[in-house]
Amino acid sequence: MDSRGYDSAGRLFSNATEMWAAELGSAATAPSAAEAEATPAAATAADSVAAGEEAVGEEKRKEWYSKAIAYWQSVEASTEGVLGGYGCVNDADVKGSDAFLRPLIAERFGTDKRHLVALDCGSGIGRVTKNLLLRHFNEVDLVEPVSHFLEAARENLTGGMDLGEDSHKAANFYCVPLQDFTPEEGRYDVIWVQWCIGQLPDDDFISFFNRAKVGLKPDGFFVLKENIAKNGFVLDKEDNSVTRSDPYFRELFKKCGLYIHSVKDQKELPKELFAVKMYALVTNQPKIQNKGKRRRPKNSPRMIRS
Ligand SMILES: C[S@@+](CC[C@H](N)C(=O)[O-])C[C@H]1O[C@@H](n2cnc3c(N)ncnc32)[C@H](O)[C@@H]1O
Repeated sequence: MDSRGYDSAGRLFSNATEMWAAELGSAATAPSAAEAEATPAAATAADSVAAGEEAVGEEKRKEWYSKAIAYWQSVEASTEGVLGGYGCVNDADVKGSDAFLRPLIAERFGTDKRHLVALDCGSGIGRVTKNLLLRHFNEVDLVEPVSHFLEAARENLTGGMDLGEDSHKAANFYCVPLQDFTPEEGRYDVIWVQWCIGQLPDDDFISFFNRAKVGLKPDGFFVLKENIAKNGFVLDKEDNSVTRSDPYFRELFKKCGLYIHSVKDQKELPKELFAVKMYALVTNQPKIQNKGKRRRPKNSPRMIRS
């Protein structure tokens, strides 16, 4: 697996650990064998160095996030704004998401009417909630750190959606970044995370999904819909986000204790954009499904019938 990456200024990194150390300091790196073997006196010195590095790391992490928030605060609260000037992909995106989600809902939750609840993470102006989630879920909560986006979402979503006697509405609006968000236990059938997880460094990615698992109902699942780098990763210094490759995501899913139930490519995107994948992620290892009849090899043993 090619784990190299580069940033928007063309700087090359031999792997993600090197990039995160440059961006966030070395506080998150594990102690070396030599440090672990150190004498008590050396350990005390090492401890204070480590504490100093941790403080620097925390400062850098704050900077990482505040630069991202400053970027999004300068963006217009519109579809064009949250899609980086590519408002034209909205229809294809919604169509692709719907085709991915619909059979998953039927398979996991059955076709009986049941009250379904979703969480839209990094919701922006509520584009995904309005065009997709409210069609399938009775209640949708939104979590988004940029207040003018969340306010626009509140305005865009008032009135809900009247689908006969069934009410579908945006219920709660949380103005919190994902790295600080913990969902209510057992509230959600689906937690939808689209075009925002690149804002989180790996360690916050892992701790977010671990906390968010608690928010799922027993048969609930995550959908992660994201840009995919061809290899390794690409660091965008304008909005402080990282585009990860498919193998990079798969490594992170393992570290989160999540399993891929299904995965699909988003079609019909302009060629100059990153590829986009949708992953349905579950907390229990999926059973291997045996689709159709198993074909017996011609020379396999068979019972003799008289
Ligand atoms: C490309 S927009 C996508 C918005 C929405 N998911 C959509 O598809 O329309 C990225 C969103 O991530 C939000 N964001 C930035 N940093 C975040 C963080 N740390 N946690 C959660 N969301 C964040 C931005 O404010 C913005 O709304």
